[in-house]
Amino acid sequence: MIIINSRKELQKFALEQKKQGKVIGFVPTMGFLHDGHLSLIDIARAKADIVIVSIFVNPTQFAPTEDLDQYPRDFDRDANLCADRKVDVIFAPTPEEMYPDDASTWVTETELSKPLCGASRPTFFRGVTTVVAKLFLLTQPDFAVFGLKDAQQLFVIKRMVRDLDFPIEIIPGALVRDSDGLALSSRNRYLSDDERSRALSIHKSLLEARELIEKQGLSAIGSALENAKNIMASAGGNVDYVSALDIDTMKPPTPHTSQLLVAAACFFGTTRLIDNELIDL
Ligand code: PAJ
Repeated sequence: MIIINSRKELQKFALEQKKQGKVIGFVPTMGFLHDGHLSLIDIARAKADIVIVSIFVNPTQFAPTEDLDQYPRDFDRDANLCADRKVDVIFAPTPEEMYPDDASTWVTETELSKPLCGASRPTFFRGVTTVVAKLFLLTQPDFAVFGLKDAQQLFVIKRMVRDLDFPIEIIPGALVRDSDGLALSSRNRYLSDDERSRALSIHKSLLEARELIEKQGLSAIGSALENAKNIMASAGGNVDYVSALDIDTMKPPTPHTSQLLVAAACFFGTTRLIDNELIDL
């Protein structure tokens, strides 16, 4: 496994591999890897000749009031996990390496990124799409793997790839949970034991919403969301949103909707957690 810190060096490496006909699989991350990330790496490893993992806590997707400085980092641990999973290259640039001082170009998706996390974190998705577009150009992947934990992010990236003609297949990876149901997240590290047990209400509330909607159809969405909100609030959560949207439009479902994203964001203490369930209609 090699570790590359320089953009130029990574792009040169990737272009050489392409010339030799190698299939490159890419998994972008912000590090502090857990089994959710590792499941994406396993998907890439099974399909690619060369697996590239990026570890970069991307400053442009954090608002000034958010947790950029506290975001957990442990490069040595991450590198060991990547080596165990037979990753070929880790790309770990500094923010100064990644962004020129006077960088002034953004990639912005303007529809699917509006609701949910885009409404609560108005500059989040443009940071994500900009850094992912840059990472795609640096790693030249044939495919990239994104987790359904961040379902809206996955749909926004798919839209960007379609709209801007990136020759890259976007492969979804299933949402990985802890044995008690909590969605794995690097941010779970912030939770006290008490907050962590109360945070189980997020998954519980989404499962109840799923059950109601599956049983009673779209007309039950209003009461299902209300019930979900109450479950999280009763557990002491400060609900940011709980919403049910058509995955293709990120708008309320219509009779043509084929898949429904029921997604929630909720604070326990100062930690904001997200989770979701996907429902086939
Ligand atoms: P990060 O939160 O580190 O997540 C990296 C990838 O791991 C994303 O595709 C995310 O959906 C996936 N992931 C995280 N937790 C998961 C879980 N429990 N199960 C399955 N997959 C999971 O998402 C980002 O970083 C950044 O926004 C990034 C795309 C790297 C751009 O900076």
